[in-house]
Amino acid sequence: EQLVVAIDGPSGSGKSSVSREAARRLGAAYLDTGAMYRAVTWHCLDAGTDLHDAAAVAAAVRAADLFISTDPDSEEVLIHGTDVTRTIREPFVSEAVSAVATNLAAREELVRRQRALIAGHARIVAEGRDITTVVAPEAQARILLTASEEARLRRRGLQLGGGQSGEDLHRQVVARDAKDSTVTNFTTASDGVVTLDSSDLDFEQTVQAVLRVVAG
Ligand code: CDP
Repeated sequence: EQLVVAIDGPSGSGKSSVSREAARRLGAAYLDTGAMYRAVTWHCLDAGTDLHDAAAVAAAVRAADLFISTDPDSEEVLIHGTDVTRTIREPFVSEAVSAVATNLAAREELVRRQRALIAGHARIVAEGRDITTVVAPEAQARILLTASEEARLRRRGLQLGGGQSGEDLHRQVVARDAKDSTVTNFTTASDGVVTLDSSDLDFEQTVQAVLRVVAG
C-alpha cells in the first residue's frame, strides 16, 4: 500500500527542510511543490510573459517542460532544460510567484502534475500550501506545520525590528502570506489534518513530531 505524507504550512515554518528530512528517514521520495510554482514563475519572467495576463500565464504553465527531482538527497529543478535550482530562491522570483499562485488555471495544471508525481512513488512526502486539502486529501498522514510569526522570522535569520533590511524582509514575508491566503488556506487545518506548532521545537524535535504523526 502506498504511503503519502502531506505537509502544508506558511513560509518560514521549516516545512521544506523538515519534510525533506522526514522523507529521508522514511525512505520516501520528496516533492517540494513550492519549487514548481517558483520554476514556472521564473520561466514566465525569463520568457517575457506578461504576469498580469492570466491567459498567457496559464498557457505558459501548461506548455512548461518542467523537471523536479523527487530524491530528498538531490535538489534539482529544470525548466526547458535550464537548471533553475538556485535561481528560483532569489527574491525576484519570490516577489513574482503570487501571479502564478493566484492563477486558478495554472494551479489546476500544477496540481495535475503533482498528483501524477505522487502516484509514481510507493512512498512520498509532499509539501506545500494545498497538499492536505487539494493535491492529496486522501494521504495517510496530513500535517499543518505552523509557527508563530516571530519564530518564522527568526528562522529566516531575521530580527524583528532590527534594522531596515530586517523590517523590509518582514514586510515581504507578511505580504506574501497575505497574497497566499487569498488562494490557499494554510492558517487553519481542515478536518483530519494534524496541526503541529513548531514555534518552541528545534529541527530534530519537529522531524520527530512529524514521524510520530506518520506512525499514527
Ligand atoms: O519560501 P516559502 O516556503 O515561503 O515558499 P515555497 O514553498 O517555496 O512556495 C513559493 C510560493 O508558491 C508560495 O508563496 C505560494 O505562493 C506558492 N505555492 C502555492 O501556492 N501552493 C503550493 N502548494 C506551494 C507553493
